[in-house]
Amino acid sequence: MIVGSQTKQWALAMGALIAGAIWTGQVHAKIEGRNDLFSKDHAKQYQSWEQTKQSEERADALAEDPNLVVLWAGYAFAKDYNKPRGHYYALTDVRETLRTGAPKSAEDGPLPMACWSCKSPDVARVIDSQGEDAYFKGMWAKGGPEIVNTIGCADCHATDSKEFKEGKPALHQSRPYASRAMDAIHMPFAKQGRFDQQAQVCGQCHVEYYFVAPTKSVKFPWDQGTTADDMERYYDELGFADWVHGLSKTPMLKAQHPEYETWRAGIHGKNNVGCVDCHMPKVRGEDGKLYTDHKVGNPFDRFDQTCANCHTQSKAMLEGVVKERKVAVNDLKLKVEQQLVRAHFEAKAAWDAGATEEQMKPILQDIRHAQWRWDYSIASHGIHMHAPDVALRTLGTALDKAADARTKLARLLATKGITGEIPLPDISTKEKAQAALGMDMKQFISDKQQFLKTTVPAWDKQAQEAGLLTK
Ligand code: HEC
Ligand code: HEC
Ligand code: HEC
Ligand code: HEC
Repeated sequence: MIVGSQTKQWALAMGALIAGAIWTGQVHAKIEGRNDLFSKDHAKQYQSWEQTKQSEERADALAEDPNLVVLWAGYAFAKDYNKPRGHYYALTDVRETLRTGAPKSAEDGPLPMACWSCKSPDVARVIDSQGEDAYFKGMWAKGGPEIVNTIGCADCHATDSKEFKEGKPALHQSRPYASRAMDAIHMPFAKQGRFDQQAQVCGQCHVEYYFVAPTKSVKFPWDQGTTADDMERYYDELGFADWVHGLSKTPMLKAQHPEYETWRAGIHGKNNVGCVDCHMPKVRGEDGKLYTDHKVGNPFDRFDQTCANCHTQSKAMLEGVVKERKVAVNDLKLKVEQQLVRAHFEAKAAWDAGATEEQMKPILQDIRHAQWRWDYSIASHGIHMHAPDVALRTLGTALDKAADARTKLARLLATKGITGEIPLPDISTKEKAQAALGMDMKQFISDKQQFLKTTVPAWDKQAQEAGLLTK
C-alpha cells in the first residue's frame, strides 16, 4: 500500500517536472466531489440518483432486537445501530450516529478518519490529491470540513474522463484499497468485463473490512478468500480483534456488511447476475432512450425492469419466496443470539469465579468464531435475497460453536461449584439492555446534540468557503 501511494506521488512529481504540459490539469482537481455539478450534463442519472432521498425511514436495529446490545457490549455498536437507508443520507447518518461521538477538536476521538471512507466522493478527492497515508492519518473529526458531499458520481465514475462527458459509464474504483482487494482475489478491476466492474464499484463499500494499525487504514480481509471461513482464518492468523467483549473478555470480530462477498457466493452471483441488474436497471426515459436508473433501492419497487427481465413468475410469488427466506434466516439468527447472550454472561460468571486464562482460552475462541459467523450471516443486509443458503449454513455452524462454548462453560463452572442457570438481567428493551451494561446513554445523547448544533454547521461553513459545496 505504501509502495503504491509513493509510486503514485513520484509519478505525479515526475509528471509535473518532465512533462508539465501533458500532465498539468489532469493530475490535480481530477476528482469532483460536488454531485450537483453533474446535474446539467447527465440530468436523468442525476435526478434518479437524487431520488435515493425517498428512502428516508430510519430503522433502529437495537430497539428491534435488544440482544444486539449484549452481543456488542464494550463496542460502539451497542450505543447505536440503524439499518441502511438511501445513499442520499450516508453523510447525514455518519454525522448523527452516536458511534462517531461528539469530538470537540480535530484531534478528538473516538473514531479514526477511516470511518468516512464509504460515505462520500470527497474521500476519493482527498486520497487522490493528498495520498492514502495523509487521508487516513488522524481522527474522524479531522475530515469534517473536507468530507461534505454524500455518496455520488465520483464514487463510481471517472468523472473527468472523455467517455463520461460523452455520457458513457466510465466506471472506476475510486478507492485504492478496494482495488488492492480485488487484486487479492485475482479479479483486478481494470481487467474485468462490464458485469464484474459493475459489481466491483458497489464492492468498494458493501464489503467486510477492518482498520490496520498504526494509521487505521482500511483493508478488506480477503487474502485467503471471501467466505466466512476464509476471513476467519485470515483474522485468526493475524491475531486481530476489533474489540474485547465487555462481559466475556473475548477478543471479538465485528462483521461490517459483506454484501459483495455473500452475493458472489449466492445463486445470482454465480450466474453472473450483478448488483446493477437488480438495483440499478436500465429504464426508458421520456425521450424514449434507455438510461441507468440511479435510484438504488429495493428492486421489488421496479419489478418489471428487474426480476421480470429474467423470471416469468409473478411479483407476488417471488416476493413471497424472499419473505419466507427472511423469516427462516431471522428465526435461526435469534436462536444463535440466545445461545451467544448466555455464553457471554456465563463466561463472565466463570471469570468472576476465578477461572484462569488458560481455562478460558478455548471457550473464548468458540465464542469468537460463533459470533463472527453469526455476524457475517446477518450483517449483510439483504442476504435472505442474495444468498439465503449461505446464511443458513453459516448460522448453523455458529449455533454449533456457541453450543460448544456453553458445554465447556458448564463443565468449568461446575468445577467452581456453580451449577444451574446463570441468571440474566432484564434485557427486554434496548434501554434496559444498555442500562444493564452500565451505559450512560443520556450523556452520549446530549453531547451529540451539542455537536450537531455547533460543530457540524461550522464544518459546512468552512467547506462552503473552500468551495467544496455548491449549496
Ligand atoms: C461509497 C460507498 C458506497 C458505494 C460505492 C455504494 N454504496 Fe450502497 N450504501 C452505502 C452506505 C454507506 C449505505 C447506507 C446509507 C445510510 O443508511 O445512511 C448504502 C445503502 C445502500 C442500500 C440501501 C438503500 C435503502 O434505500 O435502504 C442499497 C440497496 C445499496 N446501498 C446498494 C448499492 C449498490 C447496488 C451499489 C453499487 C451500484 C452501491 N450500493 C454502492 C455505501 C455505498
Ligand atoms: C453507486 C455507483 C454509482 C453512482 C453513485 C453513480 N453512478 Fe452513474 N452509473 C453507475 C452504473 C453501475 C452505471 C451503468 C454502467 C453500465 O451500464 O455498465 C452508471 C451509468 C451512468 C451513465 C452512463 C449512461 C447510463 O445511464 O447508463 C452516466 C452518464 C452516469 N452514470 C452518470 C452519473 C451521475 C451524474 C452520477 C451522480 C449524480 C452518478 N452517475 C452516480 C453507477 C453509479
Ligand atoms: C437478483 C437480484 C439482486 C442482486 C443481484 C443483488 N441484490 Fe441486493 N437486494 C435485492 C432485493 C430484492 C433486496 C431486498 C430484499 C427484501 O425485500 O427483503 C436486496 C437488498 C439489498 C440491500 C439491503 C437494503 C436494505 O435497505 O436493507 C443491500 C445493501 C443490497 N441489496 C446491496 C446489494 C449489492 C451491493 C449487490 C451486489 C454485490 C446486490 N445487492 C445484488 C436483490 C438483489
Ligand atoms: C439478469 C437475470 C436475473 C435477474 C434480473 C433476476 N434473476 Fe433470479 N435467477 C436468475 C438465474 C440465472 C437464476 C438461477 C437459475 C437456475 O439455476 O436455474 C435465478 C434464480 C432465482 C431464484 C431461485 C434460486 C434459489 O435461490 O432457489 C429465485 C427465487 C430468484 N432468482 C429470484 C429473483 C428475484 C426476486 C429477482 C429480482 C429482485 C431476480 N431473481 C432477478 C436470473 C435473474
